[in-house]
Amino acid sequence: MELHPVSYSDLDQITRIEKETNEYPWNPNNFESSLDAGNSSIVLKDRTNIVGYAFFSVIGTDSHLLNITISKDYQGRGFGKKILKKVLLQSKVLGATIVFLEVRVSNFRAISFYEKFGFKRDAIRYNYYAGSPKEDALLMSKQGL
Ligand SMILES: CC(C)(COP(=O)(O)OP(=O)(O)OC[C@H]1O[C@@H](n2cnc3c(N)ncnc32)[C@H](O)[C@@H]1OP(=O)(O)O)[C@@H](O)C(=O)NCCC(=O)NCCS
Repeated sequence: MELHPVSYSDLDQITRIEKETNEYPWNPNNFESSLDAGNSSIVLKDRTNIVGYAFFSVIGTDSHLLNITISKDYQGRGFGKKILKKVLLQSKVLGATIVFLEVRVSNFRAISFYEKFGFKRDAIRYNYYAGSPKEDALLMSKQGL
């Protein structure tokens, strides 16, 4: 298993995993724009298979976790933990003192995953996510990286 920054050639496989894993997936353009914008990214690979990935943006002392996903077949085996640890470490190295994220209020699994890492619940942003009905976002953050 190896961790690398995401490259454009990973995006076909990542887009496939994203569709299988997320009810409201990022589209190929979202991923491409994130790389174009110079955001940070991590991909975990098992030989040629992509196990999971994360995209995050560090601006000044703030890091914003934009997407973290583990492929269905690999969930619940500690790989999310491995990638999130790396996100926290790289954020710190890039000068961040805090990591922010938004998560759907219905995504209990992700919320408990983040809480395990010491993320705190900060606020609710009402109707943040598109869809019908719209869904609220829970804003979470972790300080002291
Ligand atoms: C959320 C996600 C990234 C977690 O990755 P993962 O590899 O499945 O999680 P891990 O195996 O590393 O688990 C780490 C911790 O998260 C928590 N966790 C993981 N799966 C869980 C589940 N099904 N229910 C409750 N807690 C869970 C546990 O506390 C676990 O710690 P433990 O193994 O010591 O008990 C992954 O499930 C995923 O990709 N989900 C779909 C996409 C998504 O929702 N992303 C987040 C959007 S904001």
